[in-house]
Amino acid sequence: MERLSSFEGSRESRKIISRSPTETMDLGRRIGELLPEGTVVSLEGGLGSGKTLLVKGMAPGLGIESDVLSPSFILMEEYKGERPVLHYDLYRLEELGEVERIGLFESVDGRNIVIVEWGDRLPEGALDFDVRIILKVTGDEEREIVIEAPADLLGAVTQDGGL
Ligand SMILES: Nc1ncnc2c1ncn2[C@@H]1O[C@H](COP(=O)(O)OP(=O)(O)OP(=O)(O)O)[C@@H](O)[C@H]1O
Ligand SMILES: [Mg+2]
Repeated sequence: MERLSSFEGSRESRKIISRSPTETMDLGRRIGELLPEGTVVSLEGGLGSGKTLLVKGMAPGLGIESDVLSPSFILMEEYKGERPVLHYDLYRLEELGEVERIGLFESVDGRNIVIVEWGDRLPEGALDFDVRIILKVTGDEEREIVIEAPADLLGAVTQDGGL
């Protein structure tokens, strides 16, 4: 599977059911392997829905060798992958000035991969997300995962994963 060089196609959305943490990690890995540089991703869904686990799954596909942490208390973690990967968590965001101070908008530079947990806490239109992933707890070990993304990414993620 080859990393996409850029996105093509209209935006589409697809629903995937994950039946275990491992399935969510596998989905993350496929997404991480494919994302073009410069991609901006929003992860949305309640506490414990699997946002951070999905990022942990994405890490090897993005060339990250260090552990992925949950950046909740500090808002941002930076990892060295093939490209810098910036992982934000806006759960504790109280005012937009905070994301400006931690450099969220500047980090969207067309090269970095930017992943934002609780991206839906930003005001409408504050950031143009290429990919939105919305997770919902539907059982102890079951999560409904809706991916909104350009058609070529969705096609590659679901086809190679046999989904
Ligand atoms: N199918 C599944 N997919 C993902 N996580 C699952 C699944 N089944 C159970 N879990 C559990 O749900 C929890 C998900 O935690 P995770 O930290 O990834 O959530 P989160 O959405 O990042 O939460 P927060 O908003 O607190 O940051 C983990 O403990 C994981 O083991
Ligand atoms: Mg999290």
